[in-house]
Amino acid sequence: MGHSVPPLNDQSLLKSQAFINGKWVDAKSGKTFEVKDPATHKPIGTMPEMNASDVQTAIDAAAAALPSFRKLTARERSRMLRKWYQLMVDNAEDIAKLITWENGKPMADAKGEVAYAAGFFEWFSEEAPRAYGDTIAATVAGNRVFTLKEPVGVCGLITPWNFPAAMITRKIGPALAAGCTVVAKSPGETPFTAAALAELSVRAGIPPGVVNFVTAMDNTPEVGSTITSSPIIKKVSFTGSTGVGKLLMKQSADTLKKLSFELGGNAPFIVFDDADLDVAVNGAIASKFRSSGQTCVCANRLYIQSGIYDKFCDAFVAKVKDFKVGHGYDEGVTHGPLIHDRAVSKVDAHVQDATKQGGTVLVGGQKLPDLGSNFYAPTVIRDMTDDMQLAHEETFGPVAGLFKFETEAEVVKLANAADVGLAGYFFSKDIHRCYRVAEALEVGMVGVNTGLISDPAAPFGGVKQSGFGREGSKLGIEEYLVTKMVTLGGMGQPLQGE
Ligand code: SIN
Repeated sequence: MGHSVPPLNDQSLLKSQAFINGKWVDAKSGKTFEVKDPATHKPIGTMPEMNASDVQTAIDAAAAALPSFRKLTARERSRMLRKWYQLMVDNAEDIAKLITWENGKPMADAKGEVAYAAGFFEWFSEEAPRAYGDTIAATVAGNRVFTLKEPVGVCGLITPWNFPAAMITRKIGPALAAGCTVVAKSPGETPFTAAALAELSVRAGIPPGVVNFVTAMDNTPEVGSTITSSPIIKKVSFTGSTGVGKLLMKQSADTLKKLSFELGGNAPFIVFDDADLDVAVNGAIASKFRSSGQTCVCANRLYIQSGIYDKFCDAFVAKVKDFKVGHGYDEGVTHGPLIHDRAVSKVDAHVQDATKQGGTVLVGGQKLPDLGSNFYAPTVIRDMTDDMQLAHEETFGPVAGLFKFETEAEVVKLANAADVGLAGYFFSKDIHRCYRVAEALEVGMVGVNTGLISDPAAPFGGVKQSGFGREGSKLGIEEYLVTKMVTLGGMGQPLQGE
C-alpha cells in the first residue's frame, strides 16, 4: 500500500511538537517517538517523548495563566470557544485527514468525528454564561445565603486514541467554559490531531498557558503520575480503560483531586421479538461496527430473543457482508484497521474462544493479512453462550457475538451481570417495555430503538466500574466547577428611617 497523508489544505496544521505556554516545544531531553499509520505501518512523523520535567513546565504555565483567565467574563470565554468551534468547522477536512491517518477510521467517520468534536466547543460556548449559582432562603434570621460557581483550577486531561479530536474537546470545552486552564496529555497513537487543535486554539485567541498539550508514548505512565500527583492540578478527567482508571484514582488520592472517569464498557444490545427488524439491524450495525468496534459504547453482547433470532442473524450478516474494509483514505471503504497488533490479538482470542466453545462464525472470523497486519474481518458469531470470554470482557473490535434469550427478566439479568455499566441498548415497539427495561438496565446511558446515542447535548458517562462524572450536556461544566457558599450575616435590619 502506498498511502501517505493527502496534502492538507493548510499545511501549517501539521505540527510535530508539543504545545506549552503558547509555544511549540520539543522534550527537554530531545527524545522523540514515532507515530505510524495503523493501516500501513508507515511512519507519519515524530513527537516529543516528554517526561515529568516537561509536564511540570506545562503545569506551571497553566497555573500562571489561571488567575487572569478565570477573571475573564464567561461571555468572553464563550466567544473564544465559539471561535475555536468555527475554526474546527472551517478546517474539518484537514482535521479529518489527520484523524484517518493516525487512527485509521475511514474519512467519512473522521469527518463525522470532527463535527461531533467541534459540537462540544459550540455547546460549552453556550453553557459558559449559564453557570448559575443559587440564592437560598436561610434558616437563621438575618442571614442571606447565596452560592458562587468558581473554576476548580488547573485540570489534567488524559484522553484515548479512539476519538483523537472528540475526547479532547469534550474535556477542554467545559474546562475553559468554567474558567479553568488545562494540561492535556495527547494520546501517544494520535498526537497530530491534538496538535492541529492546539494550533487552532492560537487562532481562536486562547491566551498562552490556558491550553497546554504534552506528548509521550513510552513515558505515558510517568506523565500520568506527574499529573495525578501534582498539588497544583485540582482535577483530573480521564477516558480510557477501567484498569488505568483505578491506577490514576489511587495516584490522585494523596492530593484529593476532583475526578471524572469515563472507563470501559461491555454494552448489552437487546432485540426483543416485537422490535422492528430493520431498525434493530441498522442499530446493531451502527453500534457494533462504528470505528470498527473501537468505542467504549459499542454493543459487545448482542442478545436476540428466540422468536426473531434466525431472521436477525440473516439480515445482520447480509449487511456485514456489504462492508468494504481497507485504508481509510480509499473510496468506498467503510471500515479501517484496528489501532495496533494488541487489539488484533484480543479480537482474535475472543473469536477463537467462542468457536472452540460452540459458536458458529457466520461471516469473518479471521485476520486480513493481505490488507495489513492490523486488519481483522468484521465478524458475526451465532450460538454464543455466557461462559465465553466475549460475554465478560469488552472486545473493542469488530466482532458481534449473538446470544439467544427467552424472557425479558432473563435478558435484563444477563445484561446487568457485568461489573461495568456504560451504555446499553434495546429494541422494542412496546412503550411499556421501553420504560420498564430502560429503568431496569444498570448503565449510565440507554439507547432505545437506536444504536447511536452520542450527542454533545446529552450526558455521557457510566455507573459501576465504567466510572463516574458526566461529560457533555448541562452537567459537563459542573465537573470543572466548585460551589462556594456565601452567608451574609446581620442582613435583616429595618429600613433606615423606619
Ligand atoms: C468512547 O469511546 O469513549 C466515546 C464514544 C463516544 O463519544 O461516542
